[in-house]
Amino acid sequence: MELLETKTRVELTWRPRRLRAGAAIRDLVRETRLTPAQLVAPLFVVSGRGRRQPIPSLAGHDRLSSDLALEKARTLASLGVGGLLLFGIPEHKDPIGEGAADPSGPVPETLRALAGEGLPLVLIADVCTCEYTDHGHCGPLEVLPDGRQDVDNDRALEVLAAAAVAYAEAGADVVAPSAMMDGQVAAIRSALDASGHQRTAIMAYASKHASFLYGPFRDAAGSAPAFGDRRSYQMDPANGREALREMELDAAEGADLLMVKPAITSLDLLARARERFDLPLAAYQVSGEYAMIQAAAERGWMDRQGAALETLTAIARAGAGVLITYFAEEAARWLAEEGA
Ligand code: PBG
Ligand code: ZN
Repeated sequence: MELLETKTRVELTWRPRRLRAGAAIRDLVRETRLTPAQLVAPLFVVSGRGRRQPIPSLAGHDRLSSDLALEKARTLASLGVGGLLLFGIPEHKDPIGEGAADPSGPVPETLRALAGEGLPLVLIADVCTCEYTDHGHCGPLEVLPDGRQDVDNDRALEVLAAAAVAYAEAGADVVAPSAMMDGQVAAIRSALDASGHQRTAIMAYASKHASFLYGPFRDAAGSAPAFGDRRSYQMDPANGREALREMELDAAEGADLLMVKPAITSLDLLARARERFDLPLAAYQVSGEYAMIQAAAERGWMDRQGAALETLTAIARAGAGVLITYFAEEAARWLAEEGA
């Protein structure tokens, strides 16, 4: 009773709620806007024709043969999505991962099919060997003096460089080395230049943490390591300064774009990198980030569209201009609806 009778008078200079009063004013002052053109859709490709294999760990995504990948690319292009990031699932694996550089493998096959179409999409090919090695590591193995096995960095570079050249040859606009081998950007740049592919750009997976959030991807790509883990080449998630050092090295080696992943666990790195580098910054909202939202939405615990757009907006706000996301197609549709 007493409360209602009391008149409270406060004088506030700032009332931030004025700018939140309605949809129009919120829209006017919004600092970060997403557009389909900044989105990149990951795509898993297999050999053959008419093949579509649903990926249980990535609901709504399939492994596609090149003809169906082309259909998907047409859809993405019509929605204004900026680009595609291709991952290949080969028929055969070997200890070296030589299939990564096979010109008749699923990635070059799909690139040739897409390049001929002249779609307004940037064609990006992931460059790594873990989908192609029978042990699932990102390069050939060597036995160390103490008897342990580890990835042989400099032999891995040869395979990565050969793969990058094969993808450039097949029509990739951008190659994206993800193996976290030392010197991979320099090795790929010099191999591309030596083979006449000066115009092919490199998007470096510059800061890539050894993350549990890649789990659903490894199911999708059949690329889980058969033994051990990737901590001798991917970075310790505890390290931020080391991440900036990795970006600096990749920039010096000739990377055209710098990418960080996972995205939501690297927002501090995006913010720091945005201040420090003038190269375009990309962030990969990885499979586990997608799966967390997907799983919660399936249980009715979170709004799928809301959570997807909110996380993507935060990643952009932190400093990423290019957003690689399994939500790319849907996000482009949602953004078109919002704008309509
Ligand atoms: C291959 C590669 C991985 C991802 C991108 N490239 C898997 C890994 O490092 O094990 C992860 C992408 C995702 O989780 O969506 N080196
Ligand atoms: Zn790999």
